[in-house]
Amino acid sequence: VKLMKDLDLKGKRVLIREDLNVPVKDGAVASDARIRAALPTIQQAVAAGAKVILMSHLGRPTEGEFEAQYSMAPVAEHLAGLLGQKVTLVEDWKLGVELNEGEVALLENVRFNPGEKKDDENLAKAYAGLCEVFVMDAFGTAHRAQASTHGVAKYAPVACAGPLLAGELTALEQALSEPARPMVAIVGGSKVSTKLTVLETLSDKVDQLIVGGGIANTFLAAAGKPVGKSLCEEDLIPNAQALMAKTNIPVPTDVVTGKEFSESAAAELKAADEVVADDMIFDIGPQAADDIAEILKTAGTILWNGPVGVFEFDQFGAGTKALSLAIAESSAFSLAGGGDTLAAIDKYGIADKVSYISTGGGAFLEYVEGKVLPAVAMLESRAND
Ligand code: 3PG
Repeated sequence: VKLMKDLDLKGKRVLIREDLNVPVKDGAVASDARIRAALPTIQQAVAAGAKVILMSHLGRPTEGEFEAQYSMAPVAEHLAGLLGQKVTLVEDWKLGVELNEGEVALLENVRFNPGEKKDDENLAKAYAGLCEVFVMDAFGTAHRAQASTHGVAKYAPVACAGPLLAGELTALEQALSEPARPMVAIVGGSKVSTKLTVLETLSDKVDQLIVGGGIANTFLAAAGKPVGKSLCEEDLIPNAQALMAKTNIPVPTDVVTGKEFSESAAAELKAADEVVADDMIFDIGPQAADDIAEILKTAGTILWNGPVGVFEFDQFGAGTKALSLAIAESSAFSLAGGGDTLAAIDKYGIADKVSYISTGGGAFLEYVEGKVLPAVAMLESRAND
C-alpha cells in the first residue's frame, strides 16, 4: 500500500480517518488511549504543512440522526489539548472545509451521515471530494466496510495508509507470520462462541493456547470437570474437545468462585474438582496463575486477548493481575489487543511493559482470525494508482 510518510502533503487537503471511538462520560473523554495513538499521525500531517481534516465514528448512534451524546465535541476539545492547537468541529462538512496549512478540523461523527454504515457510494464520493489525499489510519475500524473507511478509499484522488495503521499491520504480521518460538496465546473473555474462529486459527499457529474467563469454563466441562452454575456453552463442548485434542490447552487446576455475579459477592478459592452445583467460576486460582506464569517465562512470543476473570470486581481480579505481571516480566515479544484487555493493562499499570498494544478490538480479532480487513484491501487495490 501507499504510505502517508512517502507523500508530499504540503498545502494539500488531507482527509484522515482515525478511530477516535473513545468512551465519553459526562461530556468528557474518559480514556484517551485511542486519541494518543492517533496523535503522531496528526502531528506528522500538521508538520508536513497539510490542511488536516479528521473524521471518525463515536459509538453506535441511530444512523442519520444527530444525537448529542455521540457528538465528537468532547474528542475535538481533548485533541486540541493534546495537540496544543485549535481543532475546529465541523457539522456541515458537505459545504466544504476551509483550512490553512497546518490547521486541523474534525468532522462530526460519521455515523450521523445517512449511508455511512452501508458504505453508500454517494456518501463515499462526498467524503472523497473533500480531499486531495485520503489517509486511512483507523486500524480499529479497518474491519468495517463503511463509507468513511472503505468507500472513500475507493474514490479519493490518492489513498494511503497512515503510520498508526501501518504500524499495527507490521506488528501483527511480525507476531503471527514468523513468531519467535515458543508462541503462547492467551484467549480470555466470556464466551467461546464469539471467539471460536480465533481459537481455531490460533490452535494451528501456537505452541500453547491458554484459555481463561468464561471461555475456560467450557474447556473445564470438556475436560470432565464440574462447573456448577458457571457460564458454560454446552453445545460447544465438542468443539473445545477437538481443540484440546489438537493443541496443548491446559485447564485451570484451581478457581475462584462466587454464588452471585456482583461486586459484593464473596470469593472462595477451590480446586477445580471441588466446584459445586450453585458455584459460579469468576477467576482462575493462584496455582493456575503460577502455571501460566511459568509457561510465559520461556515464551518467545505472547499474544493476549481477554481477561482470565471478572477483574472489574477486585475479589475476582487476582488471576488477570498475575497474568498481567507475568506478561510484563517476560522478555517475549508481547502483543495485546481488545477493549477489556486494554482496560486490564491500564488497571494493572503494565502498558509500558507490553511490546505492542493494538488499538483494535474487533479489528484485532478479525486480523488474528486471518480475515481480510476491507479497508486495507481497498488500499492494496489502489497501491499503484
Ligand atoms: C471498536 O471500538 O471496536 C471500533 O471502533 C469499531 O466500532 P464498531 O464495533 O461500533 O463498528
